Amino acid sequence: MYFQWYPGHMTKAKRMMQENMKLIDLVIELVDARMPLSSRNPDIDELSKNKARLILLNKSDLADSRRNEEWVSYFENKGFSCVMVNSKKGGGIKSIQNVIREACKEKIERDRKRGILNRPVRAMVVGIPNVGKSTFINSIAGKAAAKTGNKPGVTKGKQWIRINKNVELLDTPGILWPKFEDQSVGLKLAFIGSIKDEILNIEELGTEFIKFAVNAYPGVLSDKYEIEETGDAFECLREIAESRHCLVRGNELDTLKAATLLLDDFRSGRLGRMTLEEPVRECDS
Ligand code: G4P
Repeated sequence: MYFQWYPGHMTKAKRMMQENMKLIDLVIELVDARMPLSSRNPDIDELSKNKARLILLNKSDLADSRRNEEWVSYFENKGFSCVMVNSKKGGGIKSIQNVIREACKEKIERDRKRGILNRPVRAMVVGIPNVGKSTFINSIAGKAAAKTGNKPGVTKGKQWIRINKNVELLDTPGILWPKFEDQSVGLKLAFIGSIKDEILNIEELGTEFIKFAVNAYPGVLSDKYEIEETGDAFECLREIAESRHCLVRGNELDTLKAATLLLDDFRSGRLGRMTLEEPVRECDS
């Protein structure tokens, strides 16, 4: 399997983000808690130079809680503010408003010294496709959120969502495409469903997922599907097909159906909480 994105998309999205960057104080970057590094584009660091930064480990409900803690420390050690959230259910969202104020305290202090009081912090949400940007915006904005409307000259027609008197959010998130330094990043993105399944070989993907799960979370597949976790991943897939009665033409094992079922179980959290990558300690890298 080989993973690639269209460069055209990236150039356009990046240009738009650069333009919006001029209007904001804070970049709220969403990453997928199951693969925090592989789900971010490192260009964001260059793009958001001189801006306050907040990283949200979104979908933390699907990721290993121990790893979530490790990833929060990892990003905090790099100087980012970092919070784990579940945008779908609203978990962690309430605490963010304080974290935003804290992340922007230097700017607020600068404003204060210049006599500017109570100017709201302006933020933009960025992240790769499918990481949960719209869900997060809806979650933090809530029902009460009112769009502040166009402010010609100041915002160049951008729409801002007033979260409260202290924070305004640009209503269009910035889309960054993930960067494929190596194909293992593509593989993880495919596991979580961020690459269209139609262009992938699902049986191969399912087999690769089995290799990962058996190694990182031994016992999970055998408990869930009542199979034996052997070193032969394709054989495991066949066993899943058997135990879940995935059959074609009467009694032939349907490994495609089994792989689809397996990936679906993983993506929706039915295999339990799993994280695909762990933070590399500086001394290991
Ligand atoms: P995007 O704007 O960044 O492209 O992502 P979007 O908000 O559309 O979210 C992509 C998918 O991720 C949605 O699922 C959404 O419900 C889900 N999601 C977002 N945040 C979280 C979270 O914190 N936890 C979990 N478990 N899921 C989250 P979908 O299947 O496309 O839609 P739906 O069936 O959930 O409505």
